[in-house]
Amino acid sequence: MSAAYWEAFFDLHRDLPREGPGEPADVAWAADVAGVRPDARICDAACGPGADIAALLAAAPQGHVTAMDKVEAFVAQAQARHGQDPRTDIRTGDMSKITGPYDLIWCAGAVYFLGVTEALRLWRKALAPQGTIAFSQPCWFTDTPSEAARAGWADYPAMTDEAGLQAHITKAGYHCLASRRLSDAAWEGYYSPLDARIAKLRPGATGDLAAVLDEAEAEAALWRAERATFGYTLCVVRPA
Ligand SMILES: C[S@@+](CC[C@H](N)C(=O)[O-])C[C@H]1O[C@@H](n2cnc3c(N)ncnc32)[C@H](O)[C@@H]1O
Repeated sequence: MSAAYWEAFFDLHRDLPREGPGEPADVAWAADVAGVRPDARICDAACGPGADIAALLAAAPQGHVTAMDKVEAFVAQAQARHGQDPRTDIRTGDMSKITGPYDLIWCAGAVYFLGVTEALRLWRKALAPQGTIAFSQPCWFTDTPSEAARAGWADYPAMTDEAGLQAHITKAGYHCLASRRLSDAAWEGYYSPLDARIAKLRPGATGDLAAVLDEAEAEAALWRAERATFGYTLCVVRPA
């Protein structure tokens, strides 16, 4: 992608509350399943603009959240939101290099950049004893996705159904404590602010900006039309 494309991408995404589907209830549910203690050491891997940091701190009020993302602009936004809290350390970093030890590694919508099996294997050494990983991952909910859905996910050919996801977890040497699908509210928490930003930027948009707006609009429309056939599954896993 050209520099102009990325500039347009950040014009669309700058200061959005989150960069993928999710809601505080997901964090609370995962922390409950994981048995997160009030003083837990948590890593928010690929934190984006820091949407989940408040819920992670709520799950571990006497704990600590280390949050990192590789994109400086997102890290700056997360720092502006939560950097004053002494229970946080928010920095630019590569999630494949985290060292820990962490009681919980939380990763919303980003494990697929590494691959499920690869990420879980990499992160094992960063887990404290009894440590847990919670991550959300795109999945097919049908054996027969439409052509439009397949085309929409063409950039991620490794996407599986939920049985395939469980197989990756097992292959990595973990067992799944529980899993659940993200709710429609979690998706709208991402797409509704994006809709508003698209509406604001659309008048007069040309070139790369118009292309970026078209792509985002098509992505949201696809999910709204076909959400019964694909979505994100949230898994809470621990080394077997
Ligand atoms: C779909 S967004 C999700 C962000 C955030 N968790 C949320 O839910 O708003 C994926 C994020 O992964 C980050 N990312 C991708 N690869 C990464 C890596 N190797 N290390 C750190 N961050 C990474 C991207 O910069 C982006 O912010």
